[in-house]
Amino acid sequence: MAMARQNSTTAGNHTRLVSLALALLVSVAATRVLAEHGICQYEVWIVDQADTSNGTSLIGYGGYVHIFKSYDLSKPAQVVDLGKAASQLCLEKTGARTHAVVSFVASGHVLVIRADDRTPLACFRTTPGFNGARQAHAAFPTGDNRYVVIANQNGKKLERLSVDWEKEVFTHDVDATLPLYGNCTTPSGARCEDPAFRPDNAPICTPTFGDPKVAFATLRGGGLFVVDYTKSPMAIVAEYDNKTVGANGCGGVGAGNNMFINSGGGTAANLYNFQVYKFPRYGYSAKNPANTPRPKVVANDPDGPRDAHGAAILRDTKGSPKYFWQPDRYSNVIDVYSIDSDRLVHRIDLRAANLSSDPTPDLVAVSPIQDHAFISLRGPFPLSADPHVSSGATPGLGVLVIQAEGRKARFEKIITIANLVNGTNRADPHAIDLRPTNTRCTQVLNTHRRL
Ligand SMILES: *[C@@H]1O[C@H](CO)[C@@H](O)[C@H](O)[C@H]1NC(C)=O
Ligand SMILES: *[C@@H]1O[C@H](CO)[C@@H](O)[C@H](O)[C@H]1NC(C)=O
Ligand SMILES: *[C@@H]1O[C@H](CO)[C@@H](O)[C@H](O)[C@H]1NC(C)=O
Ligand SMILES: *[C@@H]1O[C@H](CO)[C@@H](O)[C@H](O)[C@H]1NC(C)=O
Ligand SMILES: *[C@@H]1O[C@H](CO)[C@@H](O)[C@H](O)[C@H]1NC(C)=O
Repeated sequence: MAMARQNSTTAGNHTRLVSLALALLVSVAATRVLAEHGICQYEVWIVDQADTSNGTSLIGYGGYVHIFKSYDLSKPAQVVDLGKAASQLCLEKTGARTHAVVSFVASGHVLVIRADDRTPLACFRTTPGFNGARQAHAAFPTGDNRYVVIANQNGKKLERLSVDWEKEVFTHDVDATLPLYGNCTTPSGARCEDPAFRPDNAPICTPTFGDPKVAFATLRGGGLFVVDYTKSPMAIVAEYDNKTVGANGCGGVGAGNNMFINSGGGTAANLYNFQVYKFPRYGYSAKNPANTPRPKVVANDPDGPRDAHGAAILRDTKGSPKYFWQPDRYSNVIDVYSIDSDRLVHRIDLRAANLSSDPTPDLVAVSPIQDHAFISLRGPFPLSADPHVSSGATPGLGVLVIQAEGRKARFEKIITIANLVNGTNRADPHAIDLRPTNTRCTQVLNTHRRL
């Protein structure tokens, strides 16, 4: 909680490479849940998006990926400096196994890293759009393994990379770009961006399915588009207005036959927002009327000082989706919803563990065997720009022990992430993901692709 500044709505007046989103791909072929804990090994990757610094100054770009091994969470096994080889690759321009995709919000770069040896492989920059702006708020590898869909936030466009993860070939499909402003119209003939019902089409996040091949683009001013990400340009197959879907959603996660989308705070005019929507997996068609198929509203707390952000699906021992976790950055809680009943069944109060006066949970990753959840906890100097509720007291990696198949959890510890500049910890942990590193992790979150 607490107000701070964030870069999501400023028009690229910084050129720092800020990494906000991270998606790791994993190569585990798996069907069965392994009950023996401690055998599955994985890494937790968490991005400190504050500048890389040499201890005395802020150099204006970079950041660090802290990589923890599941068998020793006490300290990072490795810290990758995004200000070095990676940003070199990004700044010079473009320069399988498993990969990480990192997006740098303010500069609009998207970086692909080979995960096992941490080698930066390719770097792309989004193209200028609305008012000449470009960003890369998030980059989502698609469920069919063939693309990465990028939310060019202030450029108000969706962009796409074609990927061959095996051959490590990455291409920016400029013909696939879908501008969401200006003369863009929806299948119903409405304007994509319209002051009355979809006032600000900066895309925030773009979670996808592999079947069907659609991405759900949340919008800063509310409303949403479902797009067919295989078309060039990508094509809108469902359009929602801001009465049906709230603003600033990020934290979409697919589970079974549903996509959960939230709506949160994020701009000066809209600090607080807390909604959870459950969309069906199937039924999208450009022939449908607007706002069809309609999402079910699972949670709606529009007035309270709350800020839904991030999300996770918790599974039972058979791997079936059981609970949906909605972290709240302002209230320092995680609300737990039953996927069967769509009801709030528990609230995990992160302050009650007395580990932090203001944890400010942001994004969540759940271990493959569902024994631990990891949350990024924001620090006192979140990057940067407009008022927002993302400043926290204890920058770090929060570790939760999952109980009762995800209905509950015990907040076990905080591993502090440090980025000291002149003696002040400026770390700003945000993006988080994990990847199995052996073949014993037989259950993988379905937000991940299998190679
Ligand atoms: C720290 O980085 C700044 C900016 O790159 C540079 O000017 C300065 O010389 C560096 N200081 C040290 C001690 O390396
Ligand atoms: C760190 O301290 C040095 C020396 O006092 C100062 O020049 C520099 O601006 C400080 N850096 C930051 C980021 O405050
Ligand atoms: C829509 O606007 C873009 C950018 O201004 C322009 O390049 C394009 O030709 C326009 N398309 C139509 C159909 O008017
Ligand atoms: C949708 O956006 C318009 C324009 O900003 C605004 O007047 C209206 O109140 C919004 N509707 C909802 C339900 O937020
Ligand atoms: C946290 O502190 C409060 C107040 O001192 C105490 O009542 C509570 O038992 C503590 N909780 C834990 C988990 O230690």
